Amino acid sequence: MKTKSKILVFTFLLAMGLISSCQYDNIIEPVTPPPNPTDTVSFVNQIEPIFNNNSNCTACHFTGGGHSDLTTGNAYNSIKSMGLVNLSDPEASIIYWYPNLDNSSDHTWKKYTAEEAQLVLQWIKQGALNN
Ligand code: HEC
Repeated sequence: MKTKSKILVFTFLLAMGLISSCQYDNIIEPVTPPPNPTDTVSFVNQIEPIFNNNSNCTACHFTGGGHSDLTTGNAYNSIKSMGLVNLSDPEASIIYWYPNLDNSSDHTWKKYTAEEAQLVLQWIKQGALNN
Protein backbone atom coordinates (compact mmCIF):
# COMPACT_ATOMS: atom_id res chain seq x y z
CA MET A 1 0.00 0.00 0.00
CA LYS A 2 1.23 3.46 -0.81
CA THR A 3 1.89 5.87 2.02
CA LYS A 4 -0.91 8.15 0.81
CA SER A 5 -3.54 5.42 0.98
CA LYS A 6 -2.21 4.29 4.35
CA ILE A 7 -2.75 7.78 5.66
CA LEU A 8 -6.23 7.80 4.14
CA VAL A 9 -7.13 4.48 5.75
CA PHE A 10 -5.71 5.64 9.07
CA THR A 11 -7.64 8.91 8.92
CA PHE A 12 -10.80 7.05 8.03
CA LEU A 13 -10.43 4.63 10.95
CA LEU A 14 -9.64 7.49 13.32
CA ALA A 15 -12.73 9.36 12.17
CA MET A 16 -14.94 6.26 12.60
CA GLY A 17 -13.52 5.73 16.07
CA LEU A 18 -14.27 9.30 17.04
CA ILE A 19 -17.79 9.20 15.62
CA SER A 20 -18.70 5.92 17.29
CA SER A 21 -17.23 6.96 20.62
CA CYS A 22 -19.30 10.13 20.51
CA GLN A 23 -22.46 8.15 19.76
CA TYR A 24 -21.64 5.73 22.53
CA ASP A 25 -21.37 8.59 25.01
CA ASN A 26 -24.80 9.78 23.96
CA ILE A 27 -26.44 6.41 24.46
CA ILE A 28 -25.34 6.05 28.08
CA GLU A 29 -27.88 7.66 30.35
CA PRO A 30 -28.28 7.42 34.11
CA VAL A 31 -30.68 4.58 34.94
CA THR A 32 -31.12 5.42 38.61
CA PRO A 33 -33.14 8.60 38.84
CA PRO A 34 -31.93 11.35 41.11
CA PRO A 35 -34.90 12.42 43.27
CA ASN A 36 -34.84 15.94 41.93
CA PRO A 37 -38.22 17.72 42.04
CA THR A 38 -37.60 19.28 38.65
CA ASP A 39 -36.91 15.94 36.93
CA THR A 40 -39.80 14.35 35.10
CA VAL A 41 -40.71 11.07 36.78
CA SER A 42 -41.01 8.16 34.37
CA PHE A 43 -43.94 5.85 35.04
CA VAL A 44 -42.31 2.93 33.26
CA ASN A 45 -38.82 3.33 34.74
CA GLN A 46 -39.58 4.61 38.23
CA ILE A 47 -43.17 3.92 39.27
CA GLU A 48 -43.87 0.46 37.84
CA PRO A 49 -40.68 -0.96 39.42
CA ILE A 50 -42.01 0.07 42.84
CA PHE A 51 -45.01 -2.17 42.21
CA ASN A 52 -43.12 -5.05 40.61
CA ASN A 53 -39.71 -5.37 42.22
CA ASN A 54 -39.77 -8.52 44.35
CA SER A 55 -43.53 -8.59 43.74
CA ASN A 56 -43.69 -5.74 46.24
CA CYS A 57 -47.29 -4.94 45.33
CA THR A 58 -48.06 -7.33 42.49
CA ALA A 59 -48.03 -10.25 44.93
CA CYS A 60 -51.60 -9.18 45.65
CA HIS A 61 -52.29 -6.63 42.93
CA PHE A 62 -52.22 -8.99 39.96
CA THR A 63 -54.46 -9.24 36.90
CA GLY A 64 -57.96 -10.37 37.84
CA GLY A 65 -57.20 -10.23 41.55
CA GLY A 66 -60.11 -7.96 42.35
CA HIS A 67 -57.93 -4.98 43.34
CA SER A 68 -56.03 -2.53 41.20
CA ASP A 69 -53.85 -4.42 38.70
CA LEU A 70 -50.34 -3.07 39.29
CA THR A 71 -48.52 -5.49 36.98
CA THR A 72 -46.19 -4.08 34.32
CA GLY A 73 -48.11 -2.95 31.26
CA ASN A 74 -51.46 -2.95 33.07
CA ALA A 75 -50.74 -0.67 36.01
CA TYR A 76 -51.30 2.63 34.23
CA ASN A 77 -54.69 1.75 32.78
CA SER A 78 -55.83 0.18 36.02
CA ILE A 79 -54.80 3.21 38.09
CA LYS A 80 -56.55 5.54 35.65
CA SER A 81 -59.71 3.55 35.14
CA MET A 82 -60.17 3.02 38.89
CA GLY A 83 -59.74 6.74 39.49
CA LEU A 84 -56.75 6.28 41.79
CA VAL A 85 -55.15 9.59 40.80
CA ASN A 86 -56.57 13.01 41.55
CA LEU A 87 -54.80 15.58 39.40
CA SER A 88 -56.45 18.59 41.02
CA ASP A 89 -55.47 17.40 44.52
CA PRO A 90 -52.46 15.06 44.11
CA GLU A 91 -52.17 14.29 47.83
CA ALA A 92 -55.75 13.00 47.79
CA SER A 93 -54.85 10.40 45.14
CA ILE A 94 -55.65 6.92 46.40
CA ILE A 95 -52.55 5.44 44.75
CA TYR A 96 -50.51 7.90 46.84
CA TRP A 97 -52.10 8.02 50.28
CA TYR A 98 -53.62 4.56 50.64
CA PRO A 99 -50.37 2.57 50.82
CA ASN A 100 -48.42 5.44 52.39
CA LEU A 101 -46.23 4.90 55.41
CA ASP A 102 -47.33 8.19 56.92
CA ASN A 103 -50.96 7.35 56.62
CA SER A 104 -53.08 5.32 59.00
CA SER A 105 -55.10 3.51 56.31
CA ASP A 106 -56.14 -0.13 56.71
CA HIS A 107 -53.61 -1.15 54.09
CA THR A 108 -51.25 -2.41 56.78
CA TRP A 109 -49.71 -5.31 54.83
CA LYS A 110 -47.56 -3.09 52.64
CA LYS A 111 -46.63 0.57 52.66
CA TYR A 112 -44.44 2.70 50.45
CA THR A 113 -41.05 3.71 51.79
CA ALA A 114 -40.74 7.48 52.21
CA GLU A 115 -38.81 7.70 48.93
CA GLU A 116 -41.40 5.66 47.03
CA ALA A 117 -44.25 7.80 48.34
CA GLN A 118 -42.36 10.94 47.31
CA LEU A 119 -41.78 9.60 43.83
CA VAL A 120 -45.43 8.62 43.37
CA LEU A 121 -46.59 12.05 44.56
CA GLN A 122 -44.14 13.79 42.25
CA TRP A 123 -45.37 11.68 39.34
CA ILE A 124 -48.99 12.70 40.05
CA LYS A 125 -48.07 16.38 40.47
CA GLN A 126 -46.45 16.24 37.03
CA GLY A 127 -49.76 15.10 35.54
CA ALA A 128 -49.55 11.31 36.08
CA LEU A 129 -48.02 10.82 32.66
CA ASN A 130 -47.99 7.51 30.82
CA ASN A 131 -44.29 7.88 30.09
C1 HEC B 1 -50.65 -8.77 50.99
C2 HEC B 1 -51.42 -8.27 49.87
C3 HEC B 1 -51.19 -6.85 49.39
C4 HEC B 1 -49.99 -6.25 49.08
C5 HEC B 1 -48.58 -6.83 49.15
C6 HEC B 1 -50.33 -4.91 48.60
N1 HEC B 1 -51.67 -4.73 48.63
FE1 HEC B 1 -52.69 -3.07 48.08
N2 HEC B 1 -54.46 -3.91 48.62
C7 HEC B 1 -54.61 -5.22 49.04
C8 HEC B 1 -56.01 -5.49 49.28
C9 HEC B 1 -56.59 -6.81 49.79
C10 HEC B 1 -56.70 -4.30 48.98
C11 HEC B 1 -58.22 -4.05 49.08
C12 HEC B 1 -58.63 -3.99 50.50
C13 HEC B 1 -58.40 -2.66 51.04
O1 HEC B 1 -59.12 -1.75 50.62
O2 HEC B 1 -57.52 -2.47 51.90
C14 HEC B 1 -55.69 -3.34 48.56
C15 HEC B 1 -55.98 -2.05 48.18
C16 HEC B 1 -55.07 -1.18 47.63
C17 HEC B 1 -55.40 0.11 47.07
C18 HEC B 1 -56.79 0.73 47.00
C19 HEC B 1 -57.34 0.55 45.58
C20 HEC B 1 -57.56 -0.90 45.24
O3 HEC B 1 -56.79 -1.43 44.47
O4 HEC B 1 -58.53 -1.51 45.75
C21 HEC B 1 -54.23 0.63 46.61
C22 HEC B 1 -54.03 1.96 45.91
C23 HEC B 1 -53.17 -0.31 46.90
N3 HEC B 1 -53.72 -1.41 47.52
C24 HEC B 1 -51.86 -0.13 46.56
C25 HEC B 1 -50.84 -1.02 46.88
C26 HEC B 1 -49.45 -0.76 46.61
C27 HEC B 1 -48.91 0.47 45.90
C28 HEC B 1 -48.75 -1.82 47.10
C29 HEC B 1 -47.25 -2.01 47.12
C30 HEC B 1 -46.48 -0.96 47.78
C31 HEC B 1 -49.70 -2.76 47.65
N4 HEC B 1 -50.95 -2.22 47.50
C32 HEC B 1 -49.38 -3.98 48.18
C33 HEC B 1 -53.60 -6.14 49.23
C34 HEC B 1 -52.25 -5.90 49.10
